[in-house]
Amino acid sequence: MIADLEAATLAELIAAAKEASKRAYSPYSRFRVGAAILTAQGAIHSGCNVENASYGLTVCAERNAVFRAVAHGSLSIRAVVVYTPTPTPTAPCGACRQVINEFGPAARVLCVCDGPDRLDTTMAALLPDAFGPMNLGR
Ligand code: THU
Repeated sequence: MIADLEAATLAELIAAAKEASKRAYSPYSRFRVGAAILTAQGAIHSGCNVENASYGLTVCAERNAVFRAVAHGSLSIRAVVVYTPTPTPTAPCGACRQVINEFGPAARVLCVCDGPDRLDTTMAALLPDAFGPMNLGR
């Protein structure tokens, strides 16, 4: 499904997500996540999960990557790659789906791991009938 992305771009996104996962701050869950965003302009922004002693303040890798893209002036997401060092792929949580939807309702989402399985999907499939900017006339 990621066929419309060049193999080199995809490889770069996966490498960026893997690299970011190494910087995860996850002393409580010990679950390392890395995410990489491809913007409409072709830039790549990555993020890792950052936990907190006040557990509820934890921010997922995907949201950190999205916020980084926005901070760099990118408001349009083309693709998201999520990497976890697990045997099976990890899909973005509900909160992250909502945040990705804000900037990439048509984005591709590829979840990769240390095993052979991949979850290769779209935001439309992950968050059907989404509430988004259009509901507010934006
Ligand atoms: N986490 C992410 O970063 N992304 C996901 O898609 C799922 C969960 C993080 C949050 C927390 O630091 C840890 O993984 C366990 O939930």
